[in-house]
Parts: sequence; C-alpha cells; structure tokens
Amino acid sequence: MYARFNLFALILAVNLPFVSVGCSPSMESVETADAAPPAEQPSADAASEATDTADTEEVASSDSGKPTEVTLGDPSLTAGIPGEGSLSNAEIKKWLADESNHQVLDVTLPLGLSAGASEIKGLEGNPLTRAKIELGRQLYFDTRLSADATVSCASCHSPDHGYAADTQFGVGVRGQTGGRNSPVAYNRILSDKQFWDGRAESLEDQAVGPIANPIEMSNTHETCVATVNSVEGYRLQFDKVFSDEGVTIENIGKAIASFERAIVTAPSAFDYHDALRPFLQFDEETLQEIKEEDPAAWARYETARGGLEKRPMSESAQRGRDLFFADKSQCATCHVGANLTDEKYHNIGVGVDENGKIADVGRFEVTKDEKDMGAFKTPTIRNVAQTPPYMHDGGMKTLAEVVEHYVQGGTPHPHLSDKIKKLELSEQDKQDLVAFMEACTGELPSVERGRLPQ
Ligand code: HEC
Ligand code: HEC
Repeated sequence: MYARFNLFALILAVNLPFVSVGCSPSMESVETADAAPPAEQPSADAASEATDTADTEEVASSDSGKPTEVTLGDPSLTAGIPGEGSLSNAEIKKWLADESNHQVLDVTLPLGLSAGASEIKGLEGNPLTRAKIELGRQLYFDTRLSADATVSCASCHSPDHGYAADTQFGVGVRGQTGGRNSPVAYNRILSDKQFWDGRAESLEDQAVGPIANPIEMSNTHETCVATVNSVEGYRLQFDKVFSDEGVTIENIGKAIASFERAIVTAPSAFDYHDALRPFLQFDEETLQEIKEEDPAAWARYETARGGLEKRPMSESAQRGRDLFFADKSQCATCHVGANLTDEKYHNIGVGVDENGKIADVGRFEVTKDEKDMGAFKTPTIRNVAQTPPYMHDGGMKTLAEVVEHYVQGGTPHPHLSDKIKKLELSEQDKQDLVAFMEACTGELPSVERGRLPQ
C-alpha cells in the first residue's frame, strides 16, 4: 500500500513532464512546482468563480483586514471604490485613509497562467497596491485623457470585446484610424515589451503612448497632466499613492499599467484538462489513496474535475490541443509558455501583396535589422476566440481563416520565418485546431467602468 503511494507520488511529482507528452515544458514543470501550498489551486479557482470568498480566506492580511496575498483576477481588485453613482471626494478620502489599500500585494496567478509565475514582469519597479490598481482603473475608462474627451483606453481595448476592438484598426478621436489592429490589454503581467513591434520597453512606457498619439487620443502629455490635476479626486489619489510626487505622466503610466496587470484570464477548459491529465491513469482505488495521503494533489484533482464540469473540453478540442503542441502543426514553436506566446517577433507572411511587398515593416522599424522585416510580436492564444479580427493588420476575420493561412504556409516573402511551411492537415485537423483555441477561453474579471472622480 505504501509502496503504491510512493509510486503515484513519484509519477505526479517527478515524472509528470514525461507522462503528459507534447505540452510545453514550462507548463508541465510548474504544475509540479505549484504542488507546495495546498491552497493554491483551489484559491485560484475561487478567484474566478466566486466573488464573495476573497475576504474570508485564511491568508496574510494587513491590519485593517483586506488580504495582501491575492490571486489576480480577484474581483475585489477591480470592483471600484465601494458605493453607487459618481465618485465623491468624501468616498475617495475614506478609501485612501484605509491603509490596507496601500499595502504592497503579494500576487499569484490563476491556474494555467500560474505556469508563468517566474516570468512576472514589472512589479519590482512598480509594486501593485489596491489603491494604485483602482486609480489605474479610473484613468483607463476616463475619456478626459483624450484631447476632446471622447476616447479612453477602453474605446479600443473594451471589456465588451475581450479588451481589444472589433474593428480592423483602432478608431481614435474624430473617427481617425491607424494601420494596425488593437491587440489585447490582458495578461500584460507576463509581457514586457509592448506593441506589435515591441517599441515600448515596458507596460508603463506603453500606457502613456496613446495619450499623445495624434490619431488615438490626440492629446499632449502636458495637457493630460493638467486635466487630471484639475480634478480634486485624482489629485488626492495621486498625492497618496505616489507619495508627494502627485500627478505626473510617469505616474499616470504606472497607475494604468497596474490596472492592466490585474486583468488576467481565469482558467480555461484547456487548463483544467491539462491539470486533470496526470490523474487519468489512476483507478478508483489509487485515487482514494491520493485523497487520503496527498491533500495537495487531491485539491488539484478536484479543481480540475470541477472546472471541466463547468467548462467542458470537447473531443475535437482535445485532439486540437495535441495537434497544436505537435511538430505536425508547429503552432507551439511560437505560441508557447503560460500565455501561449514566445514574446518574440516573426514574419509569418501576413500583409504581403501579390508583388511580395509588405505594407508594414513591423519590428524592422525598431531594430533596423533586415531579419526583422515584416516581423510582428506573437500574440497570445488565450481568449483569442473573443477578439476578431486577427493579425497586426486585422485582415483575418475568423480563426478558421487564420488556420488556413498557416496550412498554405503563409504568403511567400524573402523574410518569411523558416518555421512557416505548408502543413499537411485534414479538414478535421483544421476544425480541431479552432476548437482548441476556443477552449483556451477563460473568464476575465468583472470590472467597474463608471465611478470616476468628478
Ligand atoms: C484609437 C484606439 C486606441 C486607443 C484609444 C488606445 N489604444 Fe492601445 N493599442 C491600439 C493599437 C492599434 C495598438 C497596436 C499599435 C502598434 O502595435 O503599433 C495598441 C497597443 C496597445 C498595447 C500593446 C499590447 C501588446 O500586445 O503589445 C497595450 C497594452 C495598449 N494598447 C493599452 C492601451 C492603453 C492603456 C490605452 C489608454 C491610455 C490605449 N491602449 C489606448 C489602439 C488603441
Ligand atoms: C513562427 C512563429 C509562429 C508559428 C509557427 C505560429 N504562429 Fe500564430 N502568430 C505568430 C505571429 C508572429 C502572429 C502575428 C503575425 C502578424 O500579425 O503579422 C501570429 C498570429 C496568430 C493568430 C492571431 C492572433 C491575434 O490576436 O491576432 C492566431 C489565432 C494564431 N497565430 C494561431 C496559430 C496557430 C493555430 C498556429 C499553428 C497552425 C500558429 N499560430 C503558428 C507566430 C507564429
């Protein structure tokens, strides 16, 4: 009996990467590394499914009660300052007087993204606090940051469109459009360089870009700072959150970046499915032993099973998963790791005309390196089903169209990535890949969009 226990413990803890063939190594190893705190997986689940448990969990908390250990996606982070209607200065003062809103948060990522725990970006230079996330939330939804008070970040990265936009290009003030599709503003905590060409070194740098971009928010940083500074409710918050620095464009960037880092995808069917995989080899009796002798493993099992009941993974999606991570499709050569992106730049033959010319040089603009000609940053596959149209030029309307692009081996171009080749895929294979990508959809946190200082 004990020998058997050792056997399954060994399989679960040591051999896991070999048991579940084909998936990215980083995802597997962290599933085992995560085994340490028994409460980790269930609390990740609770963060996405339950809205009222966060405050009652037994976790480290500051003196005034709000926990400092928190799983990102926890709705208490993005619910806004408590109350109804427009936000009064009295409510803001009360919120700022609660010290627990200023404690530095110790964050974990929900199941799935948790595999990227070691790749979290930006918190050292810009620690997360509840008050900073909340300030960033207000700025994100505030059209007053734009020149004519008509456009906010949410205009092009709307929660209604999976934090992207349903238009081919972003639409800014006076209906102006640029030449690129709006990428997603979630899971940014696992990403450092921003934009399709990676020209912003950090999320903080990125956040202040659109404010002064003539076709996006068409403002100047000076005017934007002056406008924000003219709102007492903002002044109160900046003074407290950024000590005595007050409203500066850098601090506006820091607050918005903090809000974006709090927007993460909750576990998808794919994550629950992969969490369950290592248990599928065990019979009832062995599972019973796990229940009695390894509470951490049992908690993972229950989270995965419960999750799959709510978000089932179809047979087609399961086949698509294996195909996605197999050499036959090459998808995971670039869409890899916890956020299903290598964060690198590739020319996959998008936006090339019949004469082999590319409309947009992409990463080349930043590096002036010939090999980066027409290369763009690999986007995440998480929640991708919610954010058509696709690609840097928004030129593809469906995931089926995207898959067909890869099957054809992209459009020929001298700088086409050597990883993009014609694929031998059946109609069923193509449908399976689409089904898999749809199964990579997890809930996004519910976010208060109003409650702005007047
Ligand atoms: C007019 C539409 C529009 C507005 C307004 C806008 N964005 Fe964007 N955003 C875009 C487009 C288009 C891109 C891609 C541009 C590029 O890569 O050159 C982008 C890129 C980004 C990225 C990079 C994502 C990645 O994967 O690299 C982030 C993050 C982002 N925007 C957040 C914001 C924030 C925060 C604001 C408000 C301060 C904002 N955006 C305002 C359209 C917009
Ligand atoms: C060589 C690296 C590479 C490989 C291999 C690859 N991708 Fe991509 N993928 C990218 C890049 C880079 C983009 C963005 C390209 C652009 O906009 O020009 C992208 C874009 C996408 C998009 C659009 C996402 C969005 O938000 O617009 C989807 C969906 C996608 N890929 C799925 C797949 C699938 C499915 C496979 C396997 C059949 C695959 N990719 C193989 C690098 C790759």
